[in-house]
Amino acid sequence: MVRHLLTLRDYDGKWITEVIDKAILMKKDITKYYSAMANKTLLMLFMKTSTRTRCSFEAGMTQLGGHAIFLDWRASNFTLGDAKDEVRCLDRYADVIMARVYKHEQVAVLAKHSKVPVINALCDMYHPCQTLADLMTIKEKKGELKGLKLTYIGDGNNVCNSLIAGCTRVGMKVAVATPKGFEPHPDVVAEAKKTGLLELYNKPEDALPGSDVVYTDTWISMGQEEEKEKKLKAFAGYTVSLDLLKRGKAENALIMHCLPAHRGYEISDDALDSENSVVFDEAENRMHAQKALMLKLLED
Ligand code: CP
Ligand code: NVA
Repeated sequence: MVRHLLTLRDYDGKWITEVIDKAILMKKDITKYYSAMANKTLLMLFMKTSTRTRCSFEAGMTQLGGHAIFLDWRASNFTLGDAKDEVRCLDRYADVIMARVYKHEQVAVLAKHSKVPVINALCDMYHPCQTLADLMTIKEKKGELKGLKLTYIGDGNNVCNSLIAGCTRVGMKVAVATPKGFEPHPDVVAEAKKTGLLELYNKPEDALPGSDVVYTDTWISMGQEEEKEKKLKAFAGYTVSLDLLKRGKAENALIMHCLPAHRGYEISDDALDSENSVVFDEAENRMHAQKALMLKLLED
């Protein structure tokens, strides 16, 4: 059976922890893994722009002795052919496929028809690779995950959905503060609520007390540009700043953001640049977590 990573909801906390722990080991000493993907190819298919995802996967493949091919969807014949036919050619060249798409169904179709693992590198619903790197970063900084509290402030988007799924699976508490109408996906919420680890709020100050980690992401995700005006109005007061953290009694929390950040909107300069900000370690860890993920999917 081929293992894909479309969403962390398909895996349990043990599997997620194994990936994170392997990533931490690989980060400490990559030399043992220099040939782990020798003669193997990663095919990277992008419908949207990227800095970290593209470069971290590509650099990761170099470190593992393999090769990565970048394929811009718009410059490919995915624009002409049926995705299920196109992917049935790609799986003959590649050992792993990763795809960044608009709709979750688009990456699900690729997985359905691929004979090699397909990794979701962001869709409208999820960003599982980001959450793996985020959990790895939190574990590096705090030494453990279970029992910690992560507070997400902002838009209940793909990053938020994946954080809820990932954090609750490893026993972390999650508080999410969004304006009304911008809550995370109801299926993700319903599933996480059963664990008793998720709480939803509308006021950031109510969500923040006791936070070990405070997380935010853009208010306007790729593909939602036409909602900009409406969203800027709705999200007034949700900027993660040192002042907000102080008011929410969360001054000592780690500050995280998947990047790219929009300074002055979802996060202030003083929060992004503060000594508690771990955003660049988080970005680096994309590479380590994804190396471990690819090996895990191939082993599985
Ligand atoms: N965090 C993240 O996925 O960054 P990119 O969009 O630059 O890949
Ligand atoms: N929520 C953002 C994440 C970017 C990495 C988006 O989908 O654009």
